[in-house]
Amino acid sequence: MLDKAKGLPADQVFMDIEDAVAPLAKPDARKNIVAALNEGGYDGKVRSVRVNDWTTEWTYRDVIEVVSGAGANLDCIMLPKVQGPEQIRALDMLLTQIEKSEGLDVGRIGIEAQIENAMGLTMVDEIAAASPRVETIIFGPADFMASINMKSLVVGEQPPGYDVGDAYHYILMRILMAARAYDKQAIDGPYLQIKDLDGYTRVAERSAALGFDGKWVLHPDQIAAANEIFSPRQDDYDHAELILDAYEWYTSAAGGARGAAMLGDEMIDEASRKMALVIAGKGRAAGMQRTQTFEPPQS
Ligand code: GLV
Ligand code: MG
Repeated sequence: MLDKAKGLPADQVFMDIEDAVAPLAKPDARKNIVAALNEGGYDGKVRSVRVNDWTTEWTYRDVIEVVSGAGANLDCIMLPKVQGPEQIRALDMLLTQIEKSEGLDVGRIGIEAQIENAMGLTMVDEIAAASPRVETIIFGPADFMASINMKSLVVGEQPPGYDVGDAYHYILMRILMAARAYDKQAIDGPYLQIKDLDGYTRVAERSAALGFDGKWVLHPDQIAAANEIFSPRQDDYDHAELILDAYEWYTSAAGGARGAAMLGDEMIDEASRKMALVIAGKGRAAGMQRTQTFEPPQS
């Protein structure tokens, strides 16, 4: 898996020492991860390692072994089941000491915080603000469902009996607000039924529609769906670029220095520009090409 991930079109790889690794296998997992990171080949991908959470006996050793062994070839530590800002600060301090003692750039390694229980969600604003190292807030639906006693075993799907809305709406929005307030990425977690691509798509489309930046994939088959769902549709991307060009022209002297103008049947103003920047930014990051250009009206 560590090798296979190198050639896959995912934006990030994360290597696990937590819940996908049995307790007896954790010491070997640390070594395998250090070897894989140092061997390289993950070019263009964010390289992250998920350590165990601070309530276990493993976290400090995970961090020390992985960062001392491969800190220069690692971008982020993912911290699961975060319950408060002190857990982020503890990791921040440990990272700073290791970076200093290993001669690494202090502060380069980021933190990805998984929100996986009621306490974590309650504290999510403080968690997002706890350190400049925090780059990403991640929803961990499996642990979260267990933590709140949700009456379902199918991760990410609606619990049977709740037919009046989306049972995850509050959780997703709470995480998204904290992420946006503190300028972090918001990432949706795993969908475990790896053969059910329709299911993956349905769940991913919901968080993408709200504004999440991405979703985990557990299997190569889920990657194409994720890349497509979290990129804008071609017509939305074209429209966003059109709004940006049109608004730039209308606000210029040549366009009449206007703050509000008509683009076809649509009024555009500064708020339209901000919305268009979000969609255009995602499209550009995904390498999309525009298929329309703005022509200033002839006067
Ligand atoms: C991921 O870690 C989850 O618990 O969903
Ligand atoms: Mg989890």
